[in-house]
Amino acid sequence: MAKTSVNESAITPPAYPATFRRLRANPHIRSLVEMARIHSSEFIQPIFADETLTERESVRHLNGVYSETLETLSASVERDIAAGVRKFLLFPVPAEKVEHGFRFDFATRAVQTLKSRFGSDIWLANDLCLCSYTAHGHCGIINAEGNRLLNDETVQILADYACVLAEAGADCIAPSDMTDGRIHAIRQTLDAHGFDHTAIMSYSAKFASKLYGPFRDVCKSAPSSAIALQGRTTYQISPDNLHDALQSTFRDLSEGADMVMVKPAAWYLDVVSRLRQETTAPIAVYHVSGEYAALELMAANGLLERSEGHLELWTAFKRAGANVIISYAAREAKAWIDAAESF
Ligand code: PBG
Ligand code: ZN
Repeated sequence: MAKTSVNESAITPPAYPATFRRLRANPHIRSLVEMARIHSSEFIQPIFADETLTERESVRHLNGVYSETLETLSASVERDIAAGVRKFLLFPVPAEKVEHGFRFDFATRAVQTLKSRFGSDIWLANDLCLCSYTAHGHCGIINAEGNRLLNDETVQILADYACVLAEAGADCIAPSDMTDGRIHAIRQTLDAHGFDHTAIMSYSAKFASKLYGPFRDVCKSAPSSAIALQGRTTYQISPDNLHDALQSTFRDLSEGADMVMVKPAAWYLDVVSRLRQETTAPIAVYHVSGEYAALELMAANGLLERSEGHLELWTAFKRAGANVIISYAAREAKAWIDAAESF
């Protein structure tokens, strides 16, 4: 056998079995070599305000989540601030369901209520969609035959709605409707009205998922089975279509989105990972109601420990490349992360 020189042995792969245990041996060395760490500052807490309620209600299937009244909203945010949350995604649920002539005054009042109380202590994004406003539950205006969503008519209304919210004090507009050209129209309208400082977080890679059930209950936004247009597959992305998700996201960035989003999150981490490789723009993930409910059900049944389940999942979001995590348990993030780090 030929004698191996020092240089050659340096590039020879190690003999099996390779050893990893020294790098896994204790929390000190593990934290030296760690690759993804979650911070509580990266979280956004979704909050619901429902015009029809006279007192706050806990949301079915979403452990720890409440639908607030205008009166209880501030106290809830106050508790969240105390727990370490400063960023919120507001879903206003209006009492009136119509086909046209939407009134955005409840949403406006909800934003004003929070911003007049908390000002720049909070960062408030407002979800922008029409599905909790329309009688049929679709995310925009439907044609007379009831079989098609009218893109451009919807975009016009959304742009006006965005402006009203910006005027009320929203820091960020988060369009979740999935019509074409909305980011462009919203950016233009905001800028034209002096709201160039209002950010846009686009639900850019939003899939036509079965995981939105608990959310649609709270927001009373499930698409009606009584009209021809069934479900949201004609405007949301097909779960199989990675390329559509990438292109929709690049399109929204080119139209002026400041931040993009992948939604749902856990079942779509390949999309996050691919987007991370293709763009330097900030990427948010939305751990949606169905995903959250599934994890909470496991915890409730003793199949995992609640905080450990969420922490592992949030770490997976970071590992895949997400910058921002939207979670119904955002209000627990600081306490859970602090506890996990105090070994
Ligand atoms: C509305 C909207 C939905 C969600 C956020 N905004 C549901 C839908 O498209 O029907 C889902 C959030 C969740 O399930 O937690 N456009
Ligand atoms: Zn919608």
